[in-house]
Formats: sequence, C-alpha cells, structure tokens
Amino acid sequence: MISRVFTLLAICFALMVSIVNSKPIYCLNGNCLYTRSNLTTETIISELGPQLSQRSVIIGPNDASWANVTSRYQAYNQPHILLVIQPGREEDIPTIVKYANSNSVDFLTVNRGHSLSGSNGRFNGIQISMQLLTDITINKGGKTAWFQGGTYDQQVIDELFKHGYVATTGSCACVGMMGPGLGGGHGRYQGKYGLISDNLVTLNVVLADGSTVRVSEDSHPDLLWAMKGAGHNFGIVTSFELKIHPKQVDTWYYRNYVYTQDKLETIFQAINKFHNNGTEPVDMAYEYGVYTMMPNISTTEAVIFWSFAWSGSQSGAQKYLMPFDKIGPVSIEDGNVPYPEIPDRTGSGLNDVVCEPGFEHIVGQTETFVWNITAQRKIYDLYNEKVRAQPLLNSTVVTMEGYSTEGVKAGESSSSAFPWRNSYNHLAFISISYAPNPALDQFALEWRNETRALWREGDPGHLPTNYVNYAWGDEPLESVYGYEPWRLEKLRSLKSRYDPSGRFNYYNPITGVQG
Ligand SMILES: Cc1cc2nc3c(=O)[nH]c(=O)nc-3n(C[C@H](O)[C@H](O)[C@H](O)COP(=O)(O)OP(=O)(O)OC[C@H]3O[C@@H](n4cnc5c(N)ncnc54)[C@H](O)[C@@H]3O)c2cc1C
Ligand SMILES: *[C@@H]1O[C@H](CO)[C@@H](O)[C@H](O)[C@H]1NC(C)=O
Ligand SMILES: *[C@@H]1O[C@H](CO)[C@@H](O)[C@H](O)[C@H]1NC(C)=O
Ligand SMILES: *[C@@H]1O[C@H](CO)[C@@H](O)[C@H](O)[C@H]1NC(C)=O
Ligand SMILES: *[C@@H]1O[C@H](CO)[C@@H](O)[C@H](O)[C@H]1NC(C)=O
Ligand SMILES: *[C@@H]1O[C@H](CO)[C@@H](O)[C@H](O)[C@H]1NC(C)=O
Ligand SMILES: *[C@@H]1O[C@H](CO)[C@@H](O)[C@H](O)[C@H]1NC(C)=O
Ligand SMILES: *[C@@H]1O[C@H](CO)[C@@H](O)[C@H](O)[C@H]1NC(C)=O
Repeated sequence: MISRVFTLLAICFALMVSIVNSKPIYCLNGNCLYTRSNLTTETIISELGPQLSQRSVIIGPNDASWANVTSRYQAYNQPHILLVIQPGREEDIPTIVKYANSNSVDFLTVNRGHSLSGSNGRFNGIQISMQLLTDITINKGGKTAWFQGGTYDQQVIDELFKHGYVATTGSCACVGMMGPGLGGGHGRYQGKYGLISDNLVTLNVVLADGSTVRVSEDSHPDLLWAMKGAGHNFGIVTSFELKIHPKQVDTWYYRNYVYTQDKLETIFQAINKFHNNGTEPVDMAYEYGVYTMMPNISTTEAVIFWSFAWSGSQSGAQKYLMPFDKIGPVSIEDGNVPYPEIPDRTGSGLNDVVCEPGFEHIVGQTETFVWNITAQRKIYDLYNEKVRAQPLLNSTVVTMEGYSTEGVKAGESSSSAFPWRNSYNHLAFISISYAPNPALDQFALEWRNETRALWREGDPGHLPTNYVNYAWGDEPLESVYGYEPWRLEKLRSLKSRYDPSGRFNYYNPITGVQG
C-alpha cells in the first residue's frame, strides 16, 4: 500500500516538477518570518519531494491513506496536519526540517501516535512520521544495539528476544521507544536496568535548525542530560544506541485477577503491603490495577482488574500472590509464557483495547508512594456515579501502576532531566474514553479534575508530581520537570541554545503550552 502511494506520488512529483520547476525560497537566517501564501500541499510536494530519498512517502489530504496516517490514539484536540511525510532514510529528516524552517512551517514528529497530551490542537503544519525507520542492529559484543527512531515496544521486545536479549522498553506493546524514552520511560525491566532513558548511550539528533548532531557523554553531554527526561523539547532522534542485556529467563509468569468492588479496601491493603514502599521483589516487574466496566460481571458497577507479571517461573511468584488469591477474586487467569507474550497476556498487547486509536481520552494523573485507600474508594465511587450519569463514557479506565523501582532508584537524581527518580512508587491515571463527541468533553474534563483533586487530597504530604508522558498540558511546569529551581533553569538555558525559536514546543513543552 505504501509503495503504491509512493508510485502515484512519484508520478505526481514528475508532473509538478516539470510544470513548476521552482526551488524553495531559503531565507538567509534559516527562518522566514512569514509563511508563503502560496505554500500549498502541492507546492511542498513539488519542491520537497524531489529532495527526499526514493523510499520516502508524502501523503496529502486527498490521498486514500490520509485517515490511516493521521489517525492518533488521542482524538481530543488533535493537531492540524497539512501534510504527512514518511522519510525513507534518516538523512531525509534534516532536509525536511530545513525546508520547513525556510518556509516558516511547523513540524511535528510522530512515531506511534500515542501521545496523550490534550494540548496538541495548537499545532498546524507538517507531520514527520517515523514509521519507515524501524531498523534494529545488535552491536558486536551484545552490550548495545542501534535502533532507528521509528522502532516501537513489541517490535523491539520480539527482535531482541529472538537473539537472546532484552532491554528496557515501555510496558505497552503499541507505544514507540522514543516517545516514552525521551521522558524517562517506565517498563518491565526498569527494576533491573533503570528507565529507557538510563540505558541511552548515543543519540543521532536533528536539531531545530536542521543540523545533525551525535549526542553522547563525549559529544554534547549537556544535550544528552536534557534528552534523558525532557528530550521531546530538543530534537528529532533519527536513531539511538541503547544498552541491551542478555535474557536471564525464558519464561515469565502472569496472573490476572478480576474482583468485585466490595474487595477494594482489602486489595489496596494487600498491594501496599506487597509493595512496601518500593521494596517489593525486583522480579515482580510490574503490577497494575484498573477500575473498568465488565458487562459480563456487572452493568452498573465497575470491577477491579489486577495483573501481575513476574520475571521467572510460577514457583517463585507464588508466595507473593497468595494474599491476592485469598481476597476472593471472581476470576483468575494465569500462565508461564515467553517474555514477548507478556503484553498480550496482561491487557497491554497490540490487539488490546488500550492500544486502539481514535478515541477521546481525557487524562488526569497522580504519582504517589503509598495508595491512600480512602481516596481510592472515593475515586471508585465517583467512577460508578459518572458512568451512571453518562453511559457513553463506560469505556473509561482508572489505572493504578506499580513498577519495581530498584534500578530507577540506583541512578543519580541529578544525572538526567528525569526529575522523579526517588519521588514515587506508583503512577495512576484516569483516562475518560469515548468515541469522539464534543458534547461529552465538558463533563469528562470535570470528572477528570474531580478525580485528580481526590488524588491530591489523599496525598497532602507531597507536592503534585506528573510524569511528562502522561501529562495533559495544564500541569504546573515544576510538577512535570522538577521542583529544584536549577532544573528548569538548566533546561531553559539549553533550550535557548538548541531550539531558540521553539520548533519543538508541541509535547508538554518546558515553555508551557503557550510557548
Ligand atoms: C496505550 C498507552 C500505553 C502507554 N504505555 C506506557 C508505558 O508502558 N511506559 C511509559 O513510559 N509510557 C507509556 N505511555 C505513555 C507514552 O510514553 C506516551 O504516550 C508517548 O508519547 C507515546 O509515544 P508514541 O511514539 O506512541 O507517540 P507519538 O505521539 O508518536 O510521540 C509522542 C511524542 O514523542 C516525541 N517523539 C516520538 N518519537 C520521536 C523521535 N524519534 N524523536 C523525537 N521525538 C519523538 C514527539 O514529541 C511526539 O509528539 C503509554 C501511553 C499509551 C496511550
Ligand atoms: C510562490 O510565490 C513565490 C513568491 O512569493 C514565487 O517566487 C514562487 O514561484 C511561487 N511558487 C509557486 C509554486 O507558485
Ligand atoms: C494503517 O495501515 C496499516 C497498514 O495497512 C495498518 O497496519 C495500521 O494498523 C493502520 N493504522 C491505523 C491507525 O488504522
Ligand atoms: C516511602 O519512601 C520514601 C522515600 O523513598 C519516603 O519519602 C516516604 O516517606 C516513605 N513512605 C512511607 C509510608 O514509608
Ligand atoms: C457500554 O455501553 C454499551 C451500550 O449500552 C454496551 O454495548 C457496551 O457493552 C458497554 N461497554 C462496557 C465496557 O460496559
Ligand atoms: C468477562 O469478560 C472479560 C473480557 O471483557 C473476560 O476477560 C472475563 O474472563 C469474563 N469474566 C467472566 C466471569 O465471565
Ligand atoms: C480543570 O482544571 C484545570 C486546572 O488544571 C482548569 O484550568 C480547568 O478549567 C478545569 N476544567 C474544568 C472543566 O473544570
Ligand atoms: C487519605 O485521603 C483522605 C481524603 O480522601 C485524607 O483525609 C487523609 O488524610 C489521607 N491519608 C493520608 C495518610 O494522607
């Protein structure tokens, strides 16, 4: 399909080029102060198309695949896309950025399109889609591998496992490596090896002015610091070198529970005890719970789903899971499976509803050390009340996550722009989900705010902490990038050096959403 589109467009380029034969107008300072009034999609195709590699694809609003290539996970407040370019080679990206700058057109890097941010409607311009850049090359010696900027979690998990390796990725099969990784990146191997960002060794980056830099401890180390946590603000990663690790076990054990709501308090007591403020066993890599409707169990009350994933065989996990058996679930599902199957088996696989694009998701989050059971009950009751009032919102989920934390805490807090190394043991978010329908937005935004307020009331001892990759855009900047004043100062100083005109300001930027 992709190559057919390209063939059509190639014909199109040929025609356009022979008719117009125009060159883009490059401004002397690289940034025009105005957008040419005649800069249509056709103009861009005719001018930029011939400068790109053969494999590249340019897709305009009239192309059959437009809906597919502009489809995003988040349907609320979508960016305005003029044109989609899928660069065929990493070298095309600087060309696209320079062209966009010369013509004063904004650009947005999109990989798997799972940005949750609610503030992307400000964007108007060219989408640079990374989907054709998915090469993975394991380096000799097996300590690191090179990944292109369009690689994503399930692909990376599968490919490395095939060769006997694992790496820190996100937990969900469908998200990109760099979307999470540039903001830290939580996943099932963080307890052992740290965040995705902790494992980054080298980045090939296209900066705002279209120049290309190699970023590592030896080259632009300040930028490496910034891109490990605030990376979305600084450049396009065309490829990256990441640490990989020999796999230690062949199979993982998973156990999924479904409980009715009368068990809520007992569940959170057991989870708090199990997690013991971040000292749970590293091998219980990830457990998470969800308030969700399961109509086969109840059409009026959400159930509580809880899933555990253990690195190793069932016998090792058994004693930790016994308390959760005793609570009395409605159902248990479990198994020992090769690691790459874990996302599918635990509700975070490519075919699971959590990965499905095209729905509105009104998102609010919190991070905390210990679950406040009173607050979790209030949030649960509010869920039922809201779905009763507005049944169209019955796909909403409230998700409570607990990763093992040892590998993250082992890192030095000041060593990267990820500010929360020792600041939470649990992440939680509400995602009020529905088929696009603006009439529901206000109701959903209020529900989201109320849930967030309940989380805040439940944790009066801590300042609000927001993971950048779950952020909406209305959070105070310090709550996303860190409260120590030197953090935002350092980021701002690097921003003025590497992106003075704010080309990378469309993903919960350090400048705020107005910037
Ligand atoms: C279903 C789901 C599951 C999730 N699971 C996890 C998880 O397990 N762990 C976790 O930490 N987070 C998780 N998140 C949050 C996730 O980190 C963000 O949503 C992330 O932005 C998704 O990346 P993407 O490539 O899918 O999305 P995109 O929308 O394609 O990218 C998001 C942003 O990342 C930047 N970006 C992407 N690729 C590049 C690149 N190559 N170079 C420069 N910038 C780039 C751009 O600024 C872009 O706007 C999840 C989100 C969802 C919706
Ligand atoms: C667009 O306008 C510029 C002048 O602003 C002109 O030089 C250029 O040829 C025009 N391009 C097209 C494709 O019409
Ligand atoms: C777009 O098309 C590709 C190839 O047919 C398919 O794999 C993918 O799921 C589609 N994406 C969306 C969002 O529909
Ligand atoms: C949990 O640990 C953190 C530091 O790691 C600490 O700030 C917090 O007070 C601890 N909470 C409890 C309930 O022990
Ligand atoms: C949501 O409501 C619709 C319409 O009543 C129903 O078909 C669907 O099964 C419900 N979904 C959930 C998750 O409860
Ligand atoms: C209810 O449906 C879910 C899928 O939505 C399934 O996983 C679960 O096993 C079912 N539970 C029962 C008790 O039928
Ligand atoms: C939700 O809270 C934000 C502050 O974070 C506020 O700006 C917004 O107006 C609130 N929305 C609603 C619908 O209450
Ligand atoms: C838990 O939350 C409630 C409000 O829901 C609050 O009154 C209480 O102080 C919180 N407990 C702790 C230990 O913070």
